[in-house]
Amino acid sequence: MIVHGGRPLKGSVMLSGSKNATLPIMMASVLTDQPLRLRNVPRLRDVNTAIALLQGLGVSAEWTGEHELTLQAAKLTSNDAPYELVKTMRASFCVLGPLLARTGKARVSTPGGCAIGARPVNLHITGIRTLGTRIQIRHGYVEAHADHLEGARIWLDNPSVGATENIMMAAVLARGRTTIENAAREPEVQELARALVSMGARIRGSGTHVIEIEGVERLHGADHEVVSDRIEAGSIMVAAAITGGEVELPNAPTHELDAVIAKLRESGVYVQANGDGVTVARDGKLKPVELRTLPYPGFPTDLQAQMMALLTQSSGTSVITETIFENRFMHALELTRMGADILMKGPTAVVRGPAKLLGAPVMATDLRASMSLIIAALAAENQTEISRVYHLDRGYEALDAKLGALGAQIERVKDEV
Ligand code: UD1
Repeated sequence: MIVHGGRPLKGSVMLSGSKNATLPIMMASVLTDQPLRLRNVPRLRDVNTAIALLQGLGVSAEWTGEHELTLQAAKLTSNDAPYELVKTMRASFCVLGPLLARTGKARVSTPGGCAIGARPVNLHITGIRTLGTRIQIRHGYVEAHADHLEGARIWLDNPSVGATENIMMAAVLARGRTTIENAAREPEVQELARALVSMGARIRGSGTHVIEIEGVERLHGADHEVVSDRIEAGSIMVAAAITGGEVELPNAPTHELDAVIAKLRESGVYVQANGDGVTVARDGKLKPVELRTLPYPGFPTDLQAQMMALLTQSSGTSVITETIFENRFMHALELTRMGADILMKGPTAVVRGPAKLLGAPVMATDLRASMSLIIAALAAENQTEISRVYHLDRGYEALDAKLGALGAQIERVKDEV
């Protein structure tokens, strides 16, 4: 992707559906033999990976509209989620819970490490084991069997999003009541709970630290519209801010963006939020801020890299502490190659600004890191060439077209496989 910096973003753009909400809801299709119709599904590489995974289990998947996906697990023909798919997308691991709940048997590859840290799945496994499952890890696969799942109290060591979702999807068909304590409160967990409830599940407390699930005999089909992507919203807000532009996002999920809006305002960016929708603008200088990533409703780790790019332009010293993933500063080195002044020590990065950013050849290392480089490139002099943009396509739908429509000079010169 080639970006020529220096143009303020101006205009209005519609956000796509949330990637992180879509993926686990797709996995929930395994829980019923009836159709699950999903609307506002983003067209992304990760969604295609999830489709491939589900098709491998015997689920039929059909695009019934540009952004409408209908999934039906009328009959499952396999219990295997292979390494090739799980390693490319960790969210695949969330098929364990639904597969086990529906068939009593699942064999799911463990995801292994990834660029941003170790990211173990121990909490998923412990939780699902507590529901009465026999689990063995053999040859890199989790092999799980249960004659039936039995509701239980589960306490999570930390409020993992994926573990909360996986356990919730196993528990909806278990006998009796399951309580997940120290559950994740992220909007995507709430969105999954809403989808499951519309399929006939009985769930209380999603959005709080204690989720109660009363198991039911069976679930039925449903029709669910996916909420807009809060991370895409935050990313474009930051992009607008760094270019000194003015951008409106009419379908931004404003109520999910409180921490992001607060930090942007603190750094001198004008944000107007009303109902569903935000306008972001900047004409003055950027101020330095202190930022800690935290579980929701704290500042999301998925926007840390983008904020770092913005803070390279603040007048003064900003301090960023990453508390969720231990190795999520890979973008800092690439930003430094563009002229940023960033010092890293353990989970903390000290960003001194304003730095003059100059275009350079850079490499995307993960999904959000790639967005951070694009944001820096939008403010850099001359041309920045970003390689490995397939990371971007995992989670941002037609981002080049969206930024282009706002006035960015951005061009995809080669499709990478
Ligand atoms: C999800 C999001 C991801 C986001 C992350 C944190 C999806 C598809 N992905 O990832 O974009 O960055 O939440 O908001 O929704 N952990 C354990 N053991 C486990 C599980 C997690 O120790 O069994 C640790 C992780 O290593 C990490 C922390 O818990 O340090 C949070 O991870 P988690 O919330 O599980 O993230 P994901 O669900 O993988």
